[in-house]
Amino acid sequence: MMGTNKKQVSGFSKWSKVQKLDWLRDTFTGGEAGLKNTLESFWLEDNSIQKVIDGFSENTVSNFILPYGLAPNFLIDGETYCVPMVIEESSVVAAASAAAKYWYDRGGFKTEIKGTIKVGQLHFRWSGDPALLQSRFDDIEAWLRHHATTLTENMEKRGGGITSLELLDFTDREPGLFQIRVHFETCDSMGANFINSVLENFSDSLENYFIDSPHIPEDYRDVDIIMAILSNYTPQCLVKAEVSCPVSELGTFANGMLAEQLAEKFRLAVNIAHIDPYRATTHNKGIFNGIDAVILATGNDFRATEAAGHTYAARMGSYRSLSHCEITDGIFRFWLEIPLAIGTVGGLTSLHPLARTSLEILGNPSAEQLMRIIASVGLAQNFAAVRSLVTTGIQQGHMKMHLQNILSHLGATEQESAKISSHFENKTISYSGVRDYLQNLKGTV
Ligand code: MEV
Repeated sequence: MMGTNKKQVSGFSKWSKVQKLDWLRDTFTGGEAGLKNTLESFWLEDNSIQKVIDGFSENTVSNFILPYGLAPNFLIDGETYCVPMVIEESSVVAAASAAAKYWYDRGGFKTEIKGTIKVGQLHFRWSGDPALLQSRFDDIEAWLRHHATTLTENMEKRGGGITSLELLDFTDREPGLFQIRVHFETCDSMGANFINSVLENFSDSLENYFIDSPHIPEDYRDVDIIMAILSNYTPQCLVKAEVSCPVSELGTFANGMLAEQLAEKFRLAVNIAHIDPYRATTHNKGIFNGIDAVILATGNDFRATEAAGHTYAARMGSYRSLSHCEITDGIFRFWLEIPLAIGTVGGLTSLHPLARTSLEILGNPSAEQLMRIIASVGLAQNFAAVRSLVTTGIQQGHMKMHLQNILSHLGATEQESAKISSHFENKTISYSGVRDYLQNLKGTV
């Protein structure tokens, strides 16, 4: 932090929460308690839960609250779910719920798990002959696996573990650069800790292999381990969610739009997101509105799934829509294919009390079931957004929620809110416009 009165602090992480807040108060608000009081007011009453939450991160001084909503009526592979969603953006939960209800009456969401394999990478440099390394790779693989058994045996008992290893030669792009790419099955856990532990164990074992093996020439016993880490790109941990129905059963839409017109406009809107990366980015952002909200509610890692999704969207060489739409023989089909490396055991999913609750609401799903649910919510969100865009535009729905936020911020009573809502029904909503109208109302009451 720049500024003359703000000195560097040391040992900050060791201070108590109160010490940190006192320091914040004295350093940033000249001793006034407002800021400290606000942060304190968001502490949980139950200290044992607060301690758990604090333990997730470092230097915690408060909790940042986000709304936790429910989207009911998700019919997925014949099961009905009520999906918890954590998101701050208005209209997202309402849109997901509306799309879920719409497709409930048209057969619901059908999903398919296309794979559950996760990936780790061990990058290293070695100055010997790539052909020799390739010829010894079966031997190296056996050695690495053997020395990692204490780490893998539990996962193997659960039906997972290391599924395969491959040696990749990058020496044409960087002298001596190789990679061992490792594939994992981590069952119901996201598996980041498991994967990273195995990879770091592989790093040590690989060094020892080069020292010990009689097949390595004496002058080439040095191997330079660069790094070992999972890859968040998981194109083989993939799920597909789909909705479909005859065009004639799509119904009628806002502004009197007919089913055939809607279907064609919708298909075109999705295709635009395959043609133009600017549109694709917004289109996929809409998908992640739904996906991230469930990922957050279930204590999963939204940065990881975002990263994987966007890389997957660019796998053909240009960034494209993650969803697809086709109209064939009078049938409207809309589907989403997305990598989702998530878990339902371990990590935050078990530790965060609300993540546990979310999983309970979803019927304690396996990781595969949760992949199916999350992909369906992403597709529903995308359907709702594109349907709005090609019919009424999204501002109508957004603005209704925006008005509610303004009204609650201004402390409008129920009666005032009703009057203001009807006044602004067909008008542009702005904070100052609503504030002035409310002041006017109060003046006339
Ligand atoms: C807003 O958060 C998301 C949308 O922009 C998505 C889209 O344009 O498809 C409505």
